[in-house]
Amino acid sequence: MSINEKKSLKMERETLTRYGIFVLVVASFGGLLFGYHIAVISGALVFLSSFFQLSIYDEGIVVSIMLLGALIGALATGVFSDRFGRKNVMISMSFFFISGAIIISSAADLYQLLIGRMVGGLGLGIVSVVTPLYLGEIAPPRHRGRCVSLFQLAIALGILLAFGLAFVCAEGYQWRMLFAIGGGLAFIQIFSLFFIPETPAWLVSHGKLPRAIKALKRLRKDRLWKGHLYSISIQKQKSEWRIMLKPHMRYILIVGLTISIFQQITGINAIIFYTPKIFQMVGIISNTSSFLATLSVGAINFLATLFSVYVLDKVGRRRLLLIGSFGMMLSLLIFSYAFFIDSSMIDTLALMTLMIYTCCFALSFGPVTWVLLAEIFPLIIRGNAIALAIAFNWLAVYVISLVFPDLMHEFGGGGAFGIFALICLCAFLFILRFIPETKGKSLEQIESMVNSGKF
Ligand code: BGC
Repeated sequence: MSINEKKSLKMERETLTRYGIFVLVVASFGGLLFGYHIAVISGALVFLSSFFQLSIYDEGIVVSIMLLGALIGALATGVFSDRFGRKNVMISMSFFFISGAIIISSAADLYQLLIGRMVGGLGLGIVSVVTPLYLGEIAPPRHRGRCVSLFQLAIALGILLAFGLAFVCAEGYQWRMLFAIGGGLAFIQIFSLFFIPETPAWLVSHGKLPRAIKALKRLRKDRLWKGHLYSISIQKQKSEWRIMLKPHMRYILIVGLTISIFQQITGINAIIFYTPKIFQMVGIISNTSSFLATLSVGAINFLATLFSVYVLDKVGRRRLLLIGSFGMMLSLLIFSYAFFIDSSMIDTLALMTLMIYTCCFALSFGPVTWVLLAEIFPLIIRGNAIALAIAFNWLAVYVISLVFPDLMHEFGGGGAFGIFALICLCAFLFILRFIPETKGKSLEQIESMVNSGKF
């Protein structure tokens, strides 16, 4: 490369083509499926319960079997996405979502319902691993935060859609329709997936350099990708689980797992799954007002994520995480205190603090967890490490969804939300000590930070 060419390269800015933006939108649509499938049950459960005559115990299984499916799906995705490619695994995920939706919406008994939930859960696990992985590998480094956090934005939109449709479908007890819509969304995605490429990083690591170059030329307006391509191509090719046991890999793995677990044990799904119940508990009793309160939580989740997507690459991951976890802690403390003193304004306080908590989550742990997981692991362990970290995330969702009702029963709202506030404090301290800033760095620069112990 001549000196002039090098100079003109330096002046270029990383920019996606229109096709590149289309690819981002198609891939992040997986988030919509994620959000919709995770939230649809909170609205549908009442109808499922009366239709299938479910006991409280059956209800617990109907909710949690999907999370178990997600855990298995997430674990398997590491191996499959390294072997068969990110794109093929994304296509398989849509099949799981569609089959799950068909089984549930035509279910005649509890067993069919459970099978459908399990199959859908596998799709959920796959999408939660492969989408951030794909987005992280497609994104130009300078915009990676924004690109990966589109996943979270789509999740928030999916949740909002499920909350809204649950109310509409409640009119005629149309729970089958609720699940069928989830399948329909997956159907839309599967078609669009055929128009997107495999990620350049995967292609290079499987010896398909010409295809990687072709994909990058279509995705990017600038030529800065040439330098990144070179750094990917000099890396070792085969991904193996035992490499994760090397000391610096082990370290980064523990950091990734911890962040992923913190995203859940700081309480978000205790709120997303149980919002209507919490509101009814504090006296927001009528169906319409509890629905409107739930919808406000969904809406603030979406709007704050939108803001976060915008600022993530400017403000940085670390700072957002610190601000967010601190805000989450404060709002939970106030809510818990209101329970302890039996405040007469508990309904207003519940609405305000849960909205502030959700807003802080959506600014921080929501998007930043996916961004960090997509960027901190070296390529050689990336697929497997993300899969493991997200499997732990699902395990944590599973545990929280099981223990939250017991926590409320044992310690009351004050105790339960107080415990979550304490966990937020631990998360804040962990971030302060262990998470360096990664904004603006290429995946390869982050990789050398990890390898040289500077992470
Ligand atoms: C979490 C989900 C949560 C959602 C809320 C996601 O990042 O993984 O568990 O329900 O955010 O927006």
